[in-house]
Amino acid sequence: MEDSLGYWDALAALDWQVELGADEAILDLPVDRFDLPAPVPVTKPAPAPVTVSAPVTPATPEVDKVTIARQLAESAGSLETLRAAMEGFEHCDLKRGARNFVFSDGHPSARVMVVGEAPGRDEDQQGKPFVGRAGQLLDKMFAAIGLDRNVDGDGGLYITNMLPWRPPQNRDPKPEELAMMGPFTRRHIELAEPDVVVLMGNHACAGLLGRRGITRMRGNWEDVLGKPAMPMFHPAYLLRNPAAKREAWADLLAIKGRLR
Ligand code: URA
Repeated sequence: MEDSLGYWDALAALDWQVELGADEAILDLPVDRFDLPAPVPVTKPAPAPVTVSAPVTPATPEVDKVTIARQLAESAGSLETLRAAMEGFEHCDLKRGARNFVFSDGHPSARVMVVGEAPGRDEDQQGKPFVGRAGQLLDKMFAAIGLDRNVDGDGGLYITNMLPWRPPQNRDPKPEELAMMGPFTRRHIELAEPDVVVLMGNHACAGLLGRRGITRMRGNWEDVLGKPAMPMFHPAYLLRNPAAKREAWADLLAIKGRLR
């Protein structure tokens, strides 16, 4: 192939040869196929630009997804538009395996916003966060400090998750899933404007603080988007480790104190 051919001309010539049935390029020198450099991902070029002569290096797919999520999240001006933007987001594979999209429950006017991990089986069936066994415990925990998701305003509780779709077999969220959906959760917090954020378990801490280690982190106030945020043991963990309810109670009292 002549060096003077531009990228698009070269690509068209190659396409034409493939169409003719060519499936092998014979070179002057043999190729050691056991010692090839790692393949570079190739993306389909955009249709019909005629003046570009050099290939544009594509961004890596993961960076792209996070960037798209961030742009969509930032352009959402209300909880309704955020919800629609998230529901229409096609880049998270979890969406294809889930029965329902789970956005939130409770009233966004609540002073306390809980951020959990991801829907489980019951949440996936009902389209609401924290409605299974862990959710029932969560309701009891917050009722003990006078908060209820069915109440609007000061005594209310607003609940969401890092991921709006159920991971298969309830597996842990992957770091790339948390990174991809994180911009939506952050925007969710900005739009709901709670006085206090509760980070339920390690995955909420990883997604919003970039750190995990809930046993050390719980009970210590953190900052999420300028709001006080309390890391707590996840209620599913408390169901398996009832002795840890003592620490959870201390954290609930700290939240109650903060609301005064
Ligand atoms: N666990 C979570 O973190 N969120 C839910 O919605 C249900 C269980």
